[in-house]
Amino acid sequence: MLLKPISEAQGKYKMSKVLEVTGLEGGYGSVQILYGIDLYVDQGEFVTIIGPNGCGKSTFLKVVFGLTTLHNGTVSHNAADISGWRTDKLVKRGIAYVPQVDNVFPSLSVKENLLMGGIDLKSDEISIGIDRSLKMFPDMKYRMNDLAASLSGGERQMLAISRALISNPSFLMLDEPTAALSPRYQQEILANIDNLRNDGISVLVVEQNARLSLARSDRGYIFSSGKVAYSGNAEDILRDPEIGRYFLGLNSSGRE
Ligand SMILES: Nc1ncnc2c1ncn2[C@@H]1O[C@H](COP(=O)(O)OP(=O)(O)OP(=O)(O)O)[C@@H](O)[C@H]1O
Ligand SMILES: [Mg+2]
Repeated sequence: MLLKPISEAQGKYKMSKVLEVTGLEGGYGSVQILYGIDLYVDQGEFVTIIGPNGCGKSTFLKVVFGLTTLHNGTVSHNAADISGWRTDKLVKRGIAYVPQVDNVFPSLSVKENLLMGGIDLKSDEISIGIDRSLKMFPDMKYRMNDLAASLSGGERQMLAISRALISNPSFLMLDEPTAALSPRYQQEILANIDNLRNDGISVLVVEQNARLSLARSDRGYIFSSGKVAYSGNAEDILRDPEIGRYFLGLNSSGRE
């Protein structure tokens, strides 16, 4: 019997990237916003995207999630090409997304919001999904019959994340999950997101609270005018005085 070459055997066991984006160009219809984005998320990673307002962070997540136009480039999930796939197919593959705004239905109860997260699932899958979400966000258990409108900002974010978890994703993208929250909730939400990794969920987060999110991240990307201006280890980004001055709201002495 012939032994396989070492390189081939290694390749078989190499961990694939949950997300690998190369040369992504995209935007809204014919309007181009993103210019050649290269970005990846490894299995089990927490990756943060930061950058100034309007530089294309939300647009990037929306293109990956099939919500707006991909012009060029490739998007892969676990080594399979998913470029241009429809959102419902992406959800079935285990990809989930929590949008920046309007991420809960205020006039529906917490329970109804959670059920909406499993709209394409069978009823037994929905119950399993709800149990899994409640295990991660146990506080929601006591709010099931309350209207989402009655929740605080932090609780709404928890509900939005819980809803995204109903479909049992292995890769979750979140757009500014701590926006407009009190410092206590910012920490709590990011800690909860970080914990999702214990359940095998890799995460890609867009954040304005750059330092808080990078402090929990493995790696970070800095977007500027629709391009990746810098990418690297989160620790290196946090330590870089130039990046601090331009992107993290720090002055040259490292203070806010
Ligand atoms: N639906 C749309 N149609 C056309 N252009 C849009 C649309 N939504 C956003 N844009 C434009 O795309 C560009 C990037 O917007 P995007 O929302 O991706 O930025 P962002 O980095 O997420 O900003 P923020 O930090 O403010 O959330 C902006 O110039 C914006 O005006
Ligand atoms: Mg945005």
